[in-house]
Amino acid sequence: MDDRLADKVAVITGGASGIGAAAAEKFIAQGAKVVLGDIQDDMGQAFAEKLGPNARFRHCNVTKEEDVEALVNAAVEEFGRIDVMFNNAGIVGAIGPIDTTPADEWKFTLDILLNGVFYGMKHAAKHMKQQKSGSIISMSSVAGVTGGLGPHAYCAAKHAIVGLTRNLAAEIGPYGVRANCIAPYSVATPMVADAYLGDHTDIEQTIKMLADESPLTGRAGTADDVANAALWLASDESGYTSGMTLTVDAGITTGSVAGAPRFSEYKPIMREAGNAGL
Ligand SMILES: NC(=O)c1ccc[n+]([C@@H]2O[C@H](COP(=O)([O-])OP(=O)(O)OC[C@H]3O[C@@H](n4cnc5c(N)ncnc54)[C@H](O)[C@@H]3O)[C@@H](O)[C@H]2O)c1
Repeated sequence: MDDRLADKVAVITGGASGIGAAAAEKFIAQGAKVVLGDIQDDMGQAFAEKLGPNARFRHCNVTKEEDVEALVNAAVEEFGRIDVMFNNAGIVGAIGPIDTTPADEWKFTLDILLNGVFYGMKHAAKHMKQQKSGSIISMSSVAGVTGGLGPHAYCAAKHAIVGLTRNLAAEIGPYGVRANCIAPYSVATPMVADAYLGDHTDIEQTIKMLADESPLTGRAGTADDVANAALWLASDESGYTSGMTLTVDAGITTGSVAGAPRFSEYKPIMREAGNAGL
């Protein structure tokens, strides 16, 4: 099956690398036309050329509303419509204890991770509401679902994306437009390789490291795993799904851990506490 996105036009922010690039490849392979936005211009341009005639690249810094608006408009001008908006661009951002986090690092992080998503939602919704169809996908994280899995600003922004997605779904549902977000655990991309190993190119070692700590023994998460989730949310196969946070996390946010969990071996029932107390 290679027509899951036939005739659809998709915009992907942060499309030059990692999950955004993996999604672009899958979207194109399923018949979509794709407009990529990123701040890595040379990489983005070369990648779009590699993807072929159904791909375009345009410089877009998601902290600038005018850039995001122009990216969305470029899709409509070039390909006639916008069916999928994938608000994906991101960074790890400010790291460290709350009492030493510089305010400008906090603001810079939220500007990219949250304000950038807001601009994407806003300008895509404008077209999709008129069109009466569309799918807005935004990138949250397991750090947006539970505490303790990411730095503070990252956690705050990714939680906000979950809330904003739910509110947006409530607003745009009546127009036939859907909004969902994706919450991955660490998957092997340049961002994670850089954060964990200090070398954004060492994807191989990142895969090994993630495989060791995975609840699915030996199975690391990859950019393709997340791109597959985005592909489903972009397609009409998810047509009755809106407001959802789709975890791609090997069960980490539902309690799965690497290795055997406690209480996994049979032992005779501990009845005494229930009969007469301990
Ligand atoms: N990799 C993971 O484990 C993981 C887990 C959960 C969530 N995420 C989220 O997935 C998204 C993609 O991350 P990735 O792992 O593919 O990282 P990546 O670094 O490979 O790709 C991110 C892309 O975003 C671009 N970008 C950064 N700042 C930008 C800006 N201001 N404007 C436009 N583009 C900008 C980068 O240039 C890069 O091409 C991010 O939002 C990230 O928070 C990633």
